Amino acid sequence: MAKIVAGIATSHVPAVGHAVDSGKTQDAYWKPMFDGYEFSKQWAKDNPADVAIIVYNDHASYFGMEIMPTFAIGIADSYAICDEGYGPRPVPVVEGAPELATHLAASLITDDFDMTVLNVLEVDHGLTVPMSLMYGTPDKWPTKVIPLPVNVVMNPQPSGERCLALGKAIRRAVEQFDGDLKVEVWGTGGMSHQIQGARAGLINLPWDIQFMDDLINQPEVLQYKPHLEYMIEAGSEGVELIMWLIMRGALGDKVNEVYRFNHVPASNTSVGHLILTPKED
Ligand code: DHB
Ligand code: FE
Repeated sequence: MAKIVAGIATSHVPAVGHAVDSGKTQDAYWKPMFDGYEFSKQWAKDNPADVAIIVYNDHASYFGMEIMPTFAIGIADSYAICDEGYGPRPVPVVEGAPELATHLAASLITDDFDMTVLNVLEVDHGLTVPMSLMYGTPDKWPTKVIPLPVNVVMNPQPSGERCLALGKAIRRAVEQFDGDLKVEVWGTGGMSHQIQGARAGLINLPWDIQFMDDLINQPEVLQYKPHLEYMIEAGSEGVELIMWLIMRGALGDKVNEVYRFNHVPASNTSVGHLILTPKED
């Protein structure tokens, strides 16, 4: 049986990718933030997973106004890196996990989650920056990946309730897979940030910390938080945080907090990061 062994949450600020790619992680501006991921890089080495289901959003890099799936899942063998305007990031190709992904797609759709199935996908900073933060700069990524893009950039966006429920369905689906795999679920994006308009630069650290506490202890309450509250309290891009609910739903009722980190700011964003494991009781 495949098993969900951990959940990772992290912001995915694109400038972090640039700092990694241009060797600036030890510069005065960036060092305190990257230092906060040193524990996580070691933890990832000590607790290797076979597959990471990475819940992220495409920033109109591969999808666009023409087509924007609400929930999608990649079932391909591999995923190329998207050119977001400055050429693709110089990171390894992302290797897929087509057998588990195909099982997940079938299981989720049978479970009434009408996923868009992607045989081709190029991944943007939403997926590659979290990988750089957790794994550094290897020649080959240590984990196979199932990308799970969620629309958080165009109205209408899925509800928090639906996201938490999708996470629970992912858990059921993984546990039904006949294969001895260690699976992680990652929720990326957030925390508070607004990158455009009159309130550009908005950060609300107390709200972010409360969100983390609630995500750990009472995600069922968090699922009813309206999108408008994310926008008012956490800025227009803060709504990326609904993707963390998918990760949390996949971990079961109770979790252990293995690691927590906050840093303000990185670019325009309040950086938040969690490593959680399911609490077996
Ligand atoms: C920033 C953060 C994001 O999550 C993003 O997708 C784009 C920009 C930023 O802080 O600059
Ligand atoms: Fe983003």
